[in-house]
Amino acid sequence: MSRDPFSFEGDRVLLLDQTLLPDREETIEVRDALQMADAIARLAVRGAPAIGIAAALALAVEAARDGSAATRLGRLEDAGKILVASRPTAVNLTWAVERILGAARRALARDPDLDGERLAALVREEALAIWEEDRAASRAMAAHGADLFPAASRFLTHCNTGALATGGGGTALAVLLELHRRRPGGIEVWATETRPLLQGARLTAWELREAGVPFRLIADSAAAHTILRGGIEGVLVGADRIARNGDAANKIGTLGLALAAQAAGVPFVVVAPTSTIDPAIPDGASIAVEARAAEEVTAIRGMRLAPTGIRAENPAFDVTPSRWIGAIVTERGVFRGPPYELGGPVDTKPGP
Ligand code: MRU
Repeated sequence: MSRDPFSFEGDRVLLLDQTLLPDREETIEVRDALQMADAIARLAVRGAPAIGIAAALALAVEAARDGSAATRLGRLEDAGKILVASRPTAVNLTWAVERILGAARRALARDPDLDGERLAALVREEALAIWEEDRAASRAMAAHGADLFPAASRFLTHCNTGALATGGGGTALAVLLELHRRRPGGIEVWATETRPLLQGARLTAWELREAGVPFRLIADSAAAHTILRGGIEGVLVGADRIARNGDAANKIGTLGLALAAQAAGVPFVVVAPTSTIDPAIPDGASIAVEARAAEEVTAIRGMRLAPTGIRAENPAFDVTPSRWIGAIVTERGVFRGPPYELGGPVDTKPGP
């Protein structure tokens, strides 16, 4: 059974603390934007679509507090800045915050006498719409992505792109679950552990086991070997930000998988909702790569592995040039490339 990463209770958001999974299933209560920004920054909630929805729900909580519509909008503007600053790479976060703020600003511009409660209701509806649209996007991506692989059976995936990372069933992982649903026993998945924070070992392994999909966990360092020598027929990953030309930022290690897939002649496919496409940037050069704490590399869950006093580097994402991406699956259809031009209408050429 897949688990939603959050639930919305009007005056608070409950988050499943993903830093503790799979050992403990504990819920955190979030009552304002500051608490949500902290939860996003420390990856209690993570995955590009999920952090966008979580931010939108935090804004709905902020909007529900007392005040005139103008006061509440001012509070939302401040809260939006805090939320957007919590993680820099996933564009879904900025996209969701801007969408909520845009709706609130337009409502107040249309009706300067708007009641504060009405503004709060409107923000809540917009946040729930973002969540619902992502749920539907997951279903559509799963179907489009599965259509690309009518016969292949051996897949490799990276990080966690399942229900925990989105508002629905997931992105790349949802495609694999859909293939398993269509052909029970017909697919097998190799999941990378995804150091430093082990989203693959902790979260993807948990979700695949719950779904009953045959899979094996591999060390990140085994991925190239598995792709070149292990008979992998498709590498499926998610994305945190995709430029107009198809360059895609995703969890650190994705770039190496793309290179290995290219060398092996294996399809490398990115699965992401259109909320992950950043139409403002022409290519991946301007994507900000989040630098996280060195301790995440020198230690695992607080247990130090490396000698003290050393320097470590911890880029959380890398950017795969679109020339190594064979297809980008969105809820609106499949972009076949390279080259890609994602600013325009979606090209939905079917099949591989
Ligand atoms: O640092 P994380 O765990 O938020 O990174 C998540 C990823 O890189 C995912 O692949 C990406 O957000 C797509 S999730 C559907």
